[in-house]
Amino acid sequence: MIPGDGIGKEVVPAVQRVLAALPPSFVFVALDAGWETFQRTGTALPQSTAAAVRGCDGAIFGATQSPSFRVEGYSSPILALRKQLDLYANLRPVASMPVPGSQPDIDLLIVRENTECLYVRQERLEDDGNTAIAQRVITRRASERIARKAFEMARLRFAALASRATDGLPVSSGRPPRSTPLVTIVHKANVLSLTDGLFRESCLTVAKEFPDVQVEEQLVDSMIYRLIREPQRYDVVVAPNLYGDIISDAAAALVGGLGLASSANASETFVLAEPVHGSAPDIAGKGIANPIATILAAAQLLESLGETTAAQSVQHAVNRTLADGVWSADLGGTATTEAVTLAVIERL
Ligand code: NAI
Ligand code: MG
Repeated sequence: MIPGDGIGKEVVPAVQRVLAALPPSFVFVALDAGWETFQRTGTALPQSTAAAVRGCDGAIFGATQSPSFRVEGYSSPILALRKQLDLYANLRPVASMPVPGSQPDIDLLIVRENTECLYVRQERLEDDGNTAIAQRVITRRASERIARKAFEMARLRFAALASRATDGLPVSSGRPPRSTPLVTIVHKANVLSLTDGLFRESCLTVAKEFPDVQVEEQLVDSMIYRLIREPQRYDVVVAPNLYGDIISDAAAALVGGLGLASSANASETFVLAEPVHGSAPDIAGKGIANPIATILAAAQLLESLGETTAAQSVQHAVNRTLADGVWSADLGGTATTEAVTLAVIERL
């Protein structure tokens, strides 16, 4: 458990209580990282944290507060963890929720490349101080690997929905089943023909391995536009790191907001779950942060650990909590972090 800063310190303990209420039983390891850790120790990601994470079966990360200006010696611990553990896929599900701010029939998955693009953070300032340059790295290896993940997820989601339909189970998002799985490749190859061109080409190469999955392309600007106009049409969306980051916050706004948006940073062998949101300094310390984004991230972690029943129980308990109108302030309600957490545990 890596709470980090701000509301991370409120939502991660909340999730720990939810997990503690489940079978299986867990051993929790509390680990430091973030801005406060940096100020106290001079490093945002202590060696001991990175080493201890490797000894765990999975991890939950809250959020860290990163300054919007350069601080000597500081670098974001979540980016470092993604890199060190080679968590190359950031899986961000976006589905309709039983809350007033959510649109109906949405059920999509954003598959964000998690190791390169502008997040390699190779920036420099020219000597005159008037020109800043950032490098953007796109490789065939990382692009093909994320594309393969996206196509595999499209297949898995399609099969899961089909089996739910034969079991007569309702689909929680309410979206009618599709006739084929669909992967949308997001890029801006019309302008960045080498970097985004390579991403596009790599995805299209991998697409050939999945003849059962429909594939389409969408330029990132019109992707945001169309996502807001017709979110119901999307299934799996694969994107380079920065576009994926931006698309996810926009998509979260369609289904109730950042307080509900979860993610899993995944390699083939490890998952570090985290909410999509940051440290929310505007509400930190007030006890009103919505813990559900992190609770749903924990469900993604359970799923990856093969604890499917536990994962579904958590998802159902969250759905019931929301359907029963237990809403935190971001959803228009008055429930505190504590009240939402207890409501979820009660329904478990
Ligand atoms: P943010 O996601 O922290 O907050 C955006 C807005 O959403 C705020 O109004 C906030 O109150 C609200 N919000 C977010 N999560 C919520 C929750 N669980 N319940 C209720 N309301 C919630 O984004 P912002 O303000 O741009 O960034 C704040 C800090 O977080 C920055 O220092 C940034 O670097 C960091 N950050 C860290 C991330 C991470 O650790 N993975 C990801 C994004 C931002
Ligand atoms: Mg983000």
